[in-house]
Order: sequence, then structure tokens, then C-alpha cells
Amino acid sequence: MSETSWQECEACGRTTDEFSSATRCTDCGGLLSLHHPTPDLTGPALRDRFDARHGVRGSAAELSGVWRFRELVLPSAGAAIISQPEGNTPLLQRESLSDWCGVAGLFLKHEGHNPTGSFKDRGMTVAVTQAKRIGATAIACASTGNTSASLAAYAALAGLPGLTFVPEGQVALGKLTQTLAYGAQTLLVDGDFDACLRLAKEASEQLGVYLVNSINPFRIEGQKTIVLELLQQLAWQAPDWIVLPAGNLGNVAAFGKALAEALALGLIDHCPRLAAVQAQGASPFAAAFARGFDHMEPVAAETIATAIRIGAPASYDRGVRAIRTTAGVVTSVSDDEILEAKITIDRAGVGCEPASAASLAGVRQLRHRGMISGSERVVAILTGHLLKDPGILQTIHQSSGSASHLGNKPIRIPPTIEAVRRVLFASIW
Ligand code: F0G
Repeated sequence: MSETSWQECEACGRTTDEFSSATRCTDCGGLLSLHHPTPDLTGPALRDRFDARHGVRGSAAELSGVWRFRELVLPSAGAAIISQPEGNTPLLQRESLSDWCGVAGLFLKHEGHNPTGSFKDRGMTVAVTQAKRIGATAIACASTGNTSASLAAYAALAGLPGLTFVPEGQVALGKLTQTLAYGAQTLLVDGDFDACLRLAKEASEQLGVYLVNSINPFRIEGQKTIVLELLQQLAWQAPDWIVLPAGNLGNVAAFGKALAEALALGLIDHCPRLAAVQAQGASPFAAAFARGFDHMEPVAAETIATAIRIGAPASYDRGVRAIRTTAGVVTSVSDDEILEAKITIDRAGVGCEPASAASLAGVRQLRHRGMISGSERVVAILTGHLLKDPGILQTIHQSSGSASHLGNKPIRIPPTIEAVRRVLFASIW
């Protein structure tokens, strides 16, 4: 048994040590996955160790909701860890949202509570830690906005130059301005996300920058902790379903790996089913699922949920494996359904960005189709914060456009108490 972690090509099985800087197999170009030595403890004893680390005081790494699970993330990282900290996101229950979906046992894991407002921080802490360990000179990613914001914040923390490729005109305002504010070099590409990813890969191969998109196996290890943390919050009583939005399929891959490992180590006694939800206009994974995963047909993606506006998911094979090993399903929801779910989540005082709302729209659809029963326990992942996309909020609440009938319009008044009284009597009493 190896003392350190190792990387294995998912296509040809070639192995390299944990310090290899290639983010794809140098023989066949396949994606890599990380494997760790089996922890010294398993089952209840390992659960107890993870529980004992919860809520302790200490360094960022000790406080982190990612590194609490370090045996399953990157056991050898030690003092090299670059952490904000991140994770420790809430698991919420809201009666209004349970009623809306028809699922009494509904939980919302709100990843928008991470330091840069999305789940990406969980993968980024590991990828940037690894970048420092291998002596990378710069880090790069393609992004629909959240990965770039996260990269920028962690690059600043690590003292590394950051380079981001984003599709011009297709990134929500909060994300683009965050990326700029944290100081990453930001390239507005005249093309979509898929073009940006091609370019970022070429830059990593030809210009020597370290790629931290979710094809990077270290990202996946960090994102597994969304699942580990929600299991811990449920006292290790696994739910029946975990439902998440799906774009490039890094998260679906991470969830499948986390569940397989949690089951093998005896952290849980049954495996929840994964439900991956795509936006209808960007749903090559859902279409492939409907055809029995024969192959993936890339699409020209279009959706209001810009975070998941992706036509050729890079982690397709990993995603297929995750759905198969968890007896999962893949579905898609329309932009109208996403918008309605988002407004409902916002009104519950929870809030999220449009892509995140695809998960709740998916729960509701699967409940209506009878796939999820009303008595099952379901965790829906909210992947990003409400303020990531102020543009859509303005459209809903302050414009006279098509979605405006759903909005909560501000009321213009003269500065008099009579005007305030008129408004109060008209609306509340
Ligand atoms: N939800 C949000 C808010 C996202 O930002 C993303 C992906 C997803 C869901 C889908 O996750 O790609 O792992 O299937 N955002 C990437 C980015 C593409 O660049 O920020 P996935």
C-alpha cells in the first residue's frame, strides 16, 4: 500500500505519483483520478474523527469544511494547504419550499455560503494547494464565471498569477466583477464556454500554466466534500436522493466518487441516488441519458442559467459513471421552470443564482413524475449565491420585461408620511 496518493488515468489505467503536474494522461489524453491510501480508521471510528474536528478553533485549514475530511481529499497536503477557509455551508429546511416540491423531507445544501459565493471554492482550495506544491508559475481556467471568481480569490491568497478565459457577454455581472476585483488577468473571449475551455487547455499545454478547471483531479477531491459534509450534517444517515444542477459535470463526477468512497469506507450504509438536472437549452447529458448513454452529442447551448450554459461537458465519461453507480437519473428543466424555482427560493429568504434553482425545479419535476416519492429524504444543492446574477434580479423586479409580472416592484414616493401611510394601507393592512 502506497504511503502517498497517486493519479490514475481513467481511460488507460496508467498511474503517476501525486506530484505529476499533467492534468491529463500524457499517454492517451484521458482524464485522471486521484486515489489515496486507505485511512487508518474506517466506519464509525472515521465518522467520529470527522465529527471531532467539527467546530474546533485553529488555522484556516483546521476550520475548513474541506480539509476536515483530509484523509479523503489529499492526506499528504499538511502545511502546504491554501485555505480561506471554505465549506461549512448550511443545510436548510423551509416549509414553503417543501410544499412547493411536494417533498416534506427536503433539505437545501447552500453552497452559495462559501467565501466567493459558490461551491467552486471547495475544489479550488485543493487545486491551488497542489499548484503551490508542484511549483506552478501561474494558474488558469475557462469559466462561466464562478470558477474564475474562485480562481482569482485563491490565486490572490496563494500569491500566484491567475489567468481566466470567459465568454464575452455571457457571464453574470457579479462573477465577472468578482474575478476582476480579486485581481486575475481576465480574457473576454469571442466564443462560448466550450471555446474558452479549448483555449485554456491549449494554454496549459503550450504555455505551461497549471489548469484548474474541474478536469483537474484535485478539484474533484475538494468538491467531494459537499457530499461528505451533508452526510455529516444528517448524522451520517444517507438521504434517498441528492439533486444537483449539471453543466460541465465536474460536480456530478465528484458526487459519484464521494458516495462510492463513503460506502466503501462504511461511512454510510446505503447509497443515495443522484439526480443531475440540466437546463433544457444546454442538455447534452440528459439527452444522452435518455438514449441509454450511447454517446454524447454536443449542442449549441442557450439558457438564462449562464453558469450551466455548456454544450460539450468535459467530464461526460465521469458523469456517466457517477449516474450508473448511484442508480441515478438525468433530466432537464425549461428556463421558465428555472425562473419560477429561483423566485420561489428567493422569496423563502434563501436565495440563489438561476443555475442553482435548476436543482429545485428538478426535484419538483421528478416528484410530479413519481420518480421521487413524497416520503423520501431529498437534498437539493444550491450551487451559487443570489447576488452572483444581479442582472436577472433587475429584470424580474425592476424592468417591464416578460418576467416582470413575477417581480416585487419598488414603489416611488414623495418624502412625506402620508405617502408612506397610503402605501402601507394599500399593501399590508
Ligand atoms: N451551478 C453553478 C452555480 C455553477 O457555476 C456551475 C458550473 C454548475 C452549477 C455546474 O457544475 O460544471 O460541475 O457540472 N460552473 C462552471 C464555472 C462551469 O465556470 O463556474 P458542473
